[in-house]
Amino acid sequence: MEPKIIVHGGAWDIPDEHVSDHVKGVHHAVETVAPLLRQGMTALEAVERAVNLLEEDPTFDAGRGAFLNAEGNIELDAMIMDGESLDFGCVAAMRNLLHPVSVARKVMDSKDFRFLVGEGAMRFAMNNGFSELPPEELLTERELTFFHSIKNDQSFSQIEAFSGRSDTVGAVALDENGNLACATSTGGTPRKHPGRVGDSPVIGSGGYADNETGAASSTGYGETIMRVVLCKTACDLIPDRGPAEAANRALEILHRKGKGYGGLICISPEGNYGFAHNTPRMAYALAQGHDVRADISVK
Ligand code: GLY
Repeated sequence: MEPKIIVHGGAWDIPDEHVSDHVKGVHHAVETVAPLLRQGMTALEAVERAVNLLEEDPTFDAGRGAFLNAEGNIELDAMIMDGESLDFGCVAAMRNLLHPVSVARKVMDSKDFRFLVGEGAMRFAMNNGFSELPPEELLTERELTFFHSIKNDQSFSQIEAFSGRSDTVGAVALDENGNLACATSTGGTPRKHPGRVGDSPVIGSGGYADNETGAASSTGYGETIMRVVLCKTACDLIPDRGPAEAANRALEILHRKGKGYGGLICISPEGNYGFAHNTPRMAYALAQGHDVRADISVK
């Protein structure tokens, strides 16, 4: 089986001046991980590594560069899923970590649970060798300026603010053994209520992987993505329609039934890619043989 990987770096009206950073960021993730996949890395390791690179890049709303919540704090959510076993790990409302997706990966290996949130998730992370960073190591000038530029009162609408910004990151991969995996990581929505959790760490909504159907990762406004369980919806459509049409159809369902905006990437068990968005732009990169195609898809 020829290994494959596709990543996304958010779906929104990415301004012209940020296009180059988005393309560079997603290109770097695929350029780094695709050769490792060809050398035998598993799909699960590949999606974790790719998302780690996107979390480290201040361009995106994940790890470094995350939005601030209503109290000016960073709260992070992430998930990872293995398409062979259908096993998964999820974390939500974690403070000041560079790699929440790797905490989710550790959660997946635990004996008694698969989804940890808040203080318990932080304690688990600290006990497993992760460090809480000083907020200034994750906070960017850009996010601080944005935080101060949006209102924090009754008239403030998450949907209005979010339709302008959606930089959640994700990856899906197929390895040489035919196994699929997905991972997604986010700082959530700008000025979100403390404790608010969106779609990204929720299995089926922010990501899904099943060797029999496909793997997907999403980005967009979580409250609407969860209404239609977007990634599971896309994966279920892949066997009959193929990944390109499945992605389009899932986005049509998000728009029509979920009244939402966003994007997704997906892959079939045969290694065919799909991606779609109903926002003006989406950043993505994919491996094609030994080449990388990185671009901004425009609606
Ligand atoms: N899709 C990211 C969020 O809504 O939190």
